[in-house]
Amino acid sequence: MKVIPISFFVPKIQKTDNKYMSEVAFGNSDKTTNGGNRQLPEKQPNYSYGNTINQYSDKGRVEVKKSKNRSGNPIETHVKYRTGNIKQREAVYAVDGDKRYLVSLMHYDELGDNIKTIRPTGNGGAVVLELDKEKGEWNSRELSTIHYERLSYQPKLAGVLQGGINNITTQQVNGPTKAAKDAEEVEKHFPITYGQPLVQTIPMYSEFPLIQIPAPKKRNVGVILSGGPAPGGHNVIAGLYDALKEANPDSKLYGFKEGVKGLTKGNSVEITDVVIDEYRNTGGFDLLKASREKLEGNKFDKVLENCKALDIDTIVIVGGDDSNTNTGLLAEWMKAHNAGIQVIGCPKTIDGDLQNEHIEMSFGFDTATKTYAELVGNLQRDASSAGKYTNFVRLMGRSASHIVLEVALRAHPNVALISEEIEAKNMSLDDIVDDIVDVIAARSEGKDDNGEKKNYSVILVPEGLLEFIPEVKRMNSSLSDILDIVSKDETFNKKSDKERFEIVKSQMSEEDAKVFDKFPDPIKNQLLLPKDDHGNTQVAKIETEKLLIDLVGQRLEKLAVEGKYKGKFSPLAHYLGYEGRSAFPSNFDADYCYSLGYNAFALAQAGLTGYMSCIKGLTRPAENWQAGGVPITSMMNIEKRHGEYVPVIQKAMVDLKGSAFKMYKNEQPHRWALKDNYKFPSGVQFFGPDSVCNKPSLTQMYSDIPETDCNLLMPKNILEASSRSFQTDEKLGRRVIKTVTPDEREFVTTTTACKEDGKRIKSKTYEIVDGEYILRSKAKYDGSGKTIIFAQVEKEGGFHYIDFPKGEWVIVDEVGNKHERRDAEEYVEALNSGEINTLAM
Ligand code: FBP
Repeated sequence: MKVIPISFFVPKIQKTDNKYMSEVAFGNSDKTTNGGNRQLPEKQPNYSYGNTINQYSDKGRVEVKKSKNRSGNPIETHVKYRTGNIKQREAVYAVDGDKRYLVSLMHYDELGDNIKTIRPTGNGGAVVLELDKEKGEWNSRELSTIHYERLSYQPKLAGVLQGGINNITTQQVNGPTKAAKDAEEVEKHFPITYGQPLVQTIPMYSEFPLIQIPAPKKRNVGVILSGGPAPGGHNVIAGLYDALKEANPDSKLYGFKEGVKGLTKGNSVEITDVVIDEYRNTGGFDLLKASREKLEGNKFDKVLENCKALDIDTIVIVGGDDSNTNTGLLAEWMKAHNAGIQVIGCPKTIDGDLQNEHIEMSFGFDTATKTYAELVGNLQRDASSAGKYTNFVRLMGRSASHIVLEVALRAHPNVALISEEIEAKNMSLDDIVDDIVDVIAARSEGKDDNGEKKNYSVILVPEGLLEFIPEVKRMNSSLSDILDIVSKDETFNKKSDKERFEIVKSQMSEEDAKVFDKFPDPIKNQLLLPKDDHGNTQVAKIETEKLLIDLVGQRLEKLAVEGKYKGKFSPLAHYLGYEGRSAFPSNFDADYCYSLGYNAFALAQAGLTGYMSCIKGLTRPAENWQAGGVPITSMMNIEKRHGEYVPVIQKAMVDLKGSAFKMYKNEQPHRWALKDNYKFPSGVQFFGPDSVCNKPSLTQMYSDIPETDCNLLMPKNILEASSRSFQTDEKLGRRVIKTVTPDEREFVTTTTACKEDGKRIKSKTYEIVDGEYILRSKAKYDGSGKTIIFAQVEKEGGFHYIDFPKGEWVIVDEVGNKHERRDAEEYVEALNSGEINTLAM
């Protein structure tokens, strides 16, 4: 059974109540620092309007003036000075309770001359006026209203980091780590950095021995954004920048343009307030741009040269599995060459496949899936309104189907293909087509409970599907090897499509050639596209949704001729990918990324290299998040890329035994395929109640549900995230506890208590589905009112009993046959410790 996800244990902190409280709403760079003398700053005094507060730091000063505008509403002016009276930045905020909203922002150069202003326009939105010093001209560009509003958002920092960068350090957790797989081979590639221990970021003054007490010396750090964009990348840079400046205002952050390309070419820009302020809480990677270049050959020397030129001592790589493989390789190389340059990674990718025991989720997944879920919801609404389109929606996610699964859990489409399941079931392309045809045909005949004939549906297709169909995977792997050789011959690429198809087929086995021939010519061409720099098939360019439309259409035509299909098939092809990966980050991604960047600097301060910044406990409020570092080599395995076996970070695939997938399997066949149970989740919300704007993805919420057949056994965090209230239920005519889970399932629980001592004796939980009350569990309690001695759960139409006779959990059906043994002790311990719970408790 999986235990609660936070395995970084929290040491006792001797000084916690003296935390620094920021009075500054616009980023953290206005924070006064304590200059590294480790005296924790005092809380701000509660001052009245009209007062001017001077916050002195080692370098410069921040002045906060509280006053009222012409309408009598409170405003605050925050002025940051360089030295003496030379201003660096002036921000004016409208104040509403404890919230501040940006009114205007001005930046000044070293002489105190205004060089950039952001201020609202009369017609909504804002304008940025920036001085082009060389031309002596002011350039202007417009910001949307939401862009302007988001500049005021102060991302939440993980609780453990809130004490300020100079008041945290890192501490080793457990002993040496091992690679995720192929340990011996991985170690050979990383003789120096292999096996480093996990570390956790902790406040200073811990009673535990510290592995290093960081000195807040001046540091120069370089940062790159690498691979495909993901919402929140700019906030990683903002967090890193704020931590670095807070530690020592003389430190510098350089952004290298276009990822590894910029690192090797030495193309950089210094990140300053003027640069970063406009990008806080914005999507995309446009501040620095990105590329997919791999670090290899003499590029390492170039990186060193370019870093030395700027006196850089740390490089932060923001990227996915492949980009962070670069982090590991570069860290090892720098160590081997005694270069004195540390390398730290941050986990990015909308695909969600960079996750493991410690990296709970890569950033960007939350925003991208919420964006796609909105669009899928809209398509569902359109499909059921117009009643005539079968929508095939391919969703991004190069390899794993996490995105499809999350979107499916949010929107409840009729079908969602999960590549990992298809591979596990060894399904062929024909099998997949059969399954889809069955649903379309059954819907057209009205084979659901009300007999309505439906010639519309929504089907989700993972972008990487083809690589998971065993026969196609085999063929594609042989095709990759063939292409590695033939594409080196210039004449091959100049040949006609037909000729190229024949050449590759002639080098394949007969069986593979047959599979290759199943594809229409445009798809064959897409399969022949060169691999990316890291050896990945460019699945974003393969139009699998159109392939399926073709094959499903052919099959339906055949059925129609045989008189077995009388429906109408009007397919629409959609591809949702680029639309989601540069969106404004959700509050979750904005907070998570800011914390990742801030913590990356804490790892750098601690002298670490070859680590990935890690924030844990993500399903809880940010103040409870933990932070630490995970050695890159501990996430690696060996894979074949470009024909060679190389170490790479292992991708996390959808866990078919995991609760998120089980949730989908429990629902889709019964409630989504034929009946419509569409949900319309809308997109990312920035403002409003916690339940709409601060909840992370459902996949994450479900990720730590213990393995069980009883779908009402939930870990505490799901229950905590659910809304629960006492109310009188009209249908049952009695008091109940009403529970609404994060994915909006509704439950009511009735409890019968003992008249004498008020302790509960038994309870029942019903799920409310379309107004119907479905009994989900019954529970009886022992005299202490705590231990469940009997629970009964409906599953897939039948009843299963989870019984606990004589300390042994078994599942028994109605007639008393035992089905599956459970580890009784673990189960009961988890129940009693409150780690898991039942809605009935
Ligand atoms: P990362 O793994 O770099 O985050 O990129 C993921 C992704 O968005 C995939 O979902 C998609 O297949 C691929 O990038 C598209 O790549 P490109 O940007 O090169 O078209």
